[in-house]
Amino acid sequence: MLITDIINRKKTGEPLSREEIDFFVKGYVDGTVPDYQASALLMAIWFRGMDSRETADLTLSMANSGDLIDLSAIPGVKVDKHSTGGVSDGTTLITAPLVAACGGKVAKMSGRGLGHTGGTLDKLESIPGFSVQLGMEEFIANVSDIGLSVMGQSNSLVPADKKLYALRDVTGTVDNISLIASSIMSKKIASGSDAIVLDIKTGSGAFMKRISDSIKLAEAMVEIGKLAGRKTVGIVTDMNQPLGSSVGNALEVREAVEVLQGKYECDLKVIAFTLAARMLILSGICTSESEAMEKVEDALVSGKALVKLAQMISAQGGDPAVVENLSLLPQAEAKISVKADKTGFINEIDTADIGLSAMLLGAGRAAKDDVIDPAVGIWLTKRLGDYVKKGDELAVFHVNNPERFEEAKKLFKAAYKITSEQPEELPLIYTIIEE
Ligand code: URA
Repeated sequence: MLITDIINRKKTGEPLSREEIDFFVKGYVDGTVPDYQASALLMAIWFRGMDSRETADLTLSMANSGDLIDLSAIPGVKVDKHSTGGVSDGTTLITAPLVAACGGKVAKMSGRGLGHTGGTLDKLESIPGFSVQLGMEEFIANVSDIGLSVMGQSNSLVPADKKLYALRDVTGTVDNISLIASSIMSKKIASGSDAIVLDIKTGSGAFMKRISDSIKLAEAMVEIGKLAGRKTVGIVTDMNQPLGSSVGNALEVREAVEVLQGKYECDLKVIAFTLAARMLILSGICTSESEAMEKVEDALVSGKALVKLAQMISAQGGDPAVVENLSLLPQAEAKISVKADKTGFINEIDTADIGLSAMLLGAGRAAKDDVIDPAVGIWLTKRLGDYVKKGDELAVFHVNNPERFEEAKKLFKAAYKITSEQPEELPLIYTIIEE
């Protein structure tokens, strides 16, 4: 078999066989297929697409490129959640403790942020002492004992995705349904959970900007989950503005703790609850949405979910006192109010640019090896549809490096379209795709 034949076949729109896909994945991981040929094939896939059989074959081939984690030592249904990536999307920090407090077993492998999107590992590491570098035995023991654990992906898990994702990131081939579906689902399948709830983001801060593409992505991922024997649900949710008010690592932990303390109602809480309820249903703990929502609400109101978060923090070396005392989280030196330049309704927000301005402050990485500052970020004080007067505050920037402030502020302000028209209210949840 020749990789050049495979590239040519995809270039002319032909479907690739399972053997051809395996040949490519194995060859790319072992280095016999170089980056330039892998890039050419990725671009051919981007233009020509893959059908559902090819996408499933690519996913399984990638999942099998490294270790497959065996969670069978943990009794009961192991349930995972995954977001396709967004801004102020700290749902894991709320959802996982809620599910664990209701008796679920959450074994979560999370990722780091890249570009405009945040990552759960970076957020958790802003808690003093917290470690995401767990051995497999410790991870399994934590899930068995307290019902939840979040760890970083090991190097041996889905090495094909590790290499391919890095290549896609620099070759303009991230935003393709088959490539995103196979990237995410290969990691979910290799991570070993029995059930998976997917949060597929749509809008200006998501990889998929159009709702029709997001639904296709959700359908593709749910189909792959089904083929792999995993109970899978895809929830398509809005990312036309940051989900919560905080963008940045310690700030997002703060907001998640405040939600678990019952301090406020917000879109972040609605999505975290919806995901948690679905996870309880897939775990077999609840049989209906209303029963699950009631259980989740009780876990919050009783304080049990906050206790679960503290237990997880403690089990992973962090200081559990942060759940009572948020001043223990890293704090930025300066808090600077950023104001609207115009009067009118907030009609549109370029959400990816909000994520990028937080990144410019130091909350994220432009390149993989950049060091992030856990304390910095943005606290938004207005949402889509709000009416603002010129000079009203849009956000508070938490800044440590004043040199980065002006550029971040400029990008942030340009992300807001303020007009005389009130925008139509967007749904928070567009649709739910089930098997
Ligand atoms: N997240 C992933 O893990 N992979 C993608 O391709 C996109 C988002």
